[in-house]
Amino acid sequence: MPLVKAYDEVENPRIQRNLPNGHFAWRTDFIKRPEDKGMDTPMAFLAEGSANRVLRVHFHEVDQYQVMYNGSGSVGKHPVGPGAVHFSRAHTPYGPIAYSDKGLGFITLRAHRDPGAQYLPESREVLEKVANRTPWQVTAFPDFDIVPGEHGVAMKALEGLKGHDDGLAGFSVKMNAGAKAYAPDPSKGDGQYILVMKGGILHEGKLKKDLTIIWVGKNEGPFELLAGPDGLEGLILNFPVPGGGIPDEVKPVAADTDGELKTWQCILCAFVYDEAAGMPEEGIAPGTRWEDVPENFGCPDCSAKKADFEMIEF
Ligand SMILES: [Fe+2]
Repeated sequence: MPLVKAYDEVENPRIQRNLPNGHFAWRTDFIKRPEDKGMDTPMAFLAEGSANRVLRVHFHEVDQYQVMYNGSGSVGKHPVGPGAVHFSRAHTPYGPIAYSDKGLGFITLRAHRDPGAQYLPESREVLEKVANRTPWQVTAFPDFDIVPGEHGVAMKALEGLKGHDDGLAGFSVKMNAGAKAYAPDPSKGDGQYILVMKGGILHEGKLKKDLTIIWVGKNEGPFELLAGPDGLEGLILNFPVPGGGIPDEVKPVAADTDGELKTWQCILCAFVYDEAAGMPEEGIAPGTRWEDVPENFGCPDCSAKKADFEMIEF
């Protein structure tokens, strides 16, 4: 049975934790991790934090989606605001997550149990002991300017989360009041979350308003979406089968096949620096060799220093 949970059905929303330096964190568990460590269940929660908090670089043991919900901030060097989707494979470091002066709230979604954040640098040894680790992460942005067609439904794949053959997929969805549709079948991957971020969904005769989180197991078939009287706007996020590698379609290709210009990859999180492309947004011009990149260069995804990169031949 799919799990359908609206914000106003959560028993203890916004459980507050007082953090060092006067910061606060609030956690709202939609699908709570059971106390029993032997129980592998999906996990879904909204984590909110006070202004200017910084969450250090860390990783988890399972694949994970994070969807920015309120406030704003940045993940690594990437600015994020409401709707931004960050997917990270198991054992992929990311961060730091910096909260803006408005604070930041994000929804964390997992198909499996995770014991909690493991921080760098102190947990680096853990990473190095993982066999066949295939780190990878992507930040994708929804498109809610899509216009529902004659059936009152619009669905659009998220750039960065489409074209994968391991089941990884993400979609923006927008529906008019009363419209009906089915979510894409999750059977190819490892389960699916549906987030109702605006409006509401009718489920078993009851209206579930935003924020509603729905978990659909991989064998539960396409979930019926029935938009409420205010329509529906949200995201559909499919997990890939666990343990996949870096998808072929996102593997970088060295632009210069003569071997003149090279490609470097962060050994912690798999971010790629391509000398041919440079990083103009960071002031590093196309064609800049790695040796000429400043020593204080940090990985845009996981903040690792230049020394943590190694050359990868593609
Ligand atoms: Fe990195």
